[in-house]
Amino acid sequence: MQRTLILLKPDAVKRRLIGRVLARFEDKGLRVVGMKLMQISQELAAKHYEAHKERPFYPGLVKFMTSSPVVAMVLEGPHAVDVCRKLMGATFGFKAEPGTIRGDWGVSNQFNLVHGSDGPEAAEREIGLFFPGGAGLLDWKTADADLHLCD
Ligand code: RTP
Ligand code: MG
Repeated sequence: MQRTLILLKPDAVKRRLIGRVLARFEDKGLRVVGMKLMQISQELAAKHYEAHKERPFYPGLVKFMTSSPVVAMVLEGPHAVDVCRKLMGATFGFKAEPGTIRGDWGVSNQFNLVHGSDGPEAAEREIGLFFPGGAGLLDWKTADADLHLCD
């Protein structure tokens, strides 16, 4: 079992796509263990995207991510990091394959609907940033948990 941090970015929220994007993750078999609508502060955006701070797109990225609310969530499942990245598709909408979240709902580089941690260490760090001390994360069983669908 692995956990990952997913953000439904401001464009997804503003386009009323929260439910449809979340359904992609749930349909695949991931379990929501934390979820909140929140406004990202400058400070949190800077920490979250600190690996990109020297990149030319960084100021625009921080401006976009702090522009209006996002939905932050922690999803859990086998290989959750890779499974979510596959469901999301390539970074830029115009390159993302049809059938992926980014491939189905946009062609933009920046307004690409969703963030997903890019590795297990990033996931741990990002979960700590958005759910400090694990506050708001709940453990519960899905209805099909005993069917061992993941085995
Ligand atoms: P994310 O972190 O948001 O899940 O996206 P990602 O891993 O697929 O891509 P990453 O390289 O981490 O880039 C973070 C976000 O920065 C924007 N970006 N713009 N104009 C550009 O060349 C460029 N490169 C990256 C994208 O919005 C990307 O999601
Ligand atoms: Mg990234």
